[in-house]
Amino acid sequence: MPAISASAPGKAILIGEHAVVYGHPAIAVPVHGVSARAAVTPAIKAPPGEVHIEAAQIGIDADLGALPESDPLAAAVRAALQALGLIRPPALNVRVSSTIPIAGGLGSGAAVSVAILRAVSAFLGHPLNDEQVSALAFEIEQLHHGTPSGIDNTVITYARPIFFVKGQPPDFLQVAKPFTLLIADTGVATPTREAVAAVRAAWQANPPRYERLFAQIGDLAIQARSAVESGDIELLGPLMDANHEILQQLEVSSPELDKLVAAASQAGALGAKLSGGGRGGNILALVEPDRSNTVSDALQSAGALSTIVTTVDKK
Ligand code: PMV
Repeated sequence: MPAISASAPGKAILIGEHAVVYGHPAIAVPVHGVSARAAVTPAIKAPPGEVHIEAAQIGIDADLGALPESDPLAAAVRAALQALGLIRPPALNVRVSSTIPIAGGLGSGAAVSVAILRAVSAFLGHPLNDEQVSALAFEIEQLHHGTPSGIDNTVITYARPIFFVKGQPPDFLQVAKPFTLLIADTGVATPTREAVAAVRAAWQANPPRYERLFAQIGDLAIQARSAVESGDIELLGPLMDANHEILQQLEVSSPELDKLVAAASQAGALGAKLSGGGRGGNILALVEPDRSNTVSDALQSAGALSTIVTTVDKK
C-alpha cells in the first residue's frame, strides 16, 4: 500500500460566532495559508492491527491502544477505522503536523480531524466522502467543545466560503469579487469551550438580552452574505465592526483583541473584529490588497504575534 497524505485548511469566521450556536446564520471562510496534514505509511515490521500515531508538535508518539478515548487524534483514527468497519487494519503509521495555531480560533482541531479521516480512509482503500468526513469531524468536535455549532468541521471539510446554519446542509457562498483578509494573533490561547460556556451561562441568566444580541448578529450575517454575493465588499467592513461591538457586549472580547481591532482600523482596514471563540485568539481585518503590509505592520506594532494574509474567493 503506497503512502497517502491529506491536508485541510484553517478557517476564520467572518460574521456570526457564538450566535451560530443558537441557530442564527454565520459566515466562515477557509484560510488556505495554514493547514493540517496527516501522512499515513505502512508499518512494514509491525503486526496487523498496530497503529502508531506521531505528532511531534504536541509531543505524541504512541500506539493507538495506549492513547485515551479523549485524545482527539486517536479519536479521529478510531472514527475512520470504525466507519470502514475495520477492527484489525494493516499495520500503519499516522504522522500529523499542522501550521494552524492551536486554540486560536482558526479551527486547528477540526482541520487535524479532517486530515486524519481522509488520509487513513484513503490509505485503506475506501476514501470517506465529504459528508462522512464532516459528520465524523463534528462528532470529534463534540468530545472537546461541548456544544459546537458544526461550522468549523463544515467549512474545513469543504474548504469553501459558507453561509452556515446549525443542522442544515452546507450553503456555499457565491463570492462575486475576491477580497483580502488579514488575521492577527493576540498570542493569548483560549479554549473555545470556555468562551462558549460563559456565553451560555450569561444567556441563561438573561435570555431576552442575549437573544436580542444573537438575532442582531444573525442579521449582520444575512447582510454580509448579500455584500459578498453582489461584490459590494466595502459594505462588509462596517458589518464586521458592528459584529465586533456586539461580541464586546457578549463579553467575549478582551483588551488584547480590542487593541488589535483598533490598530487595524486606525491603519486603514475597512473593518475588523475578533474571530472565533474570543477572549484571546485572533482578529480578522478586511483590507484593500495594497494596504495589507501597512495594516500588518501596525498590527505587529500593537502586539500581534504573527499575521496571515488570505484571499477569499469562490474556492
Ligand atoms: O473554534 P473557534 O474558536 O473558531 O469557535 C467557533 C465559533 C463558536 O461560534 C464560538 C463556537 C461554535 O461551535 O460555533
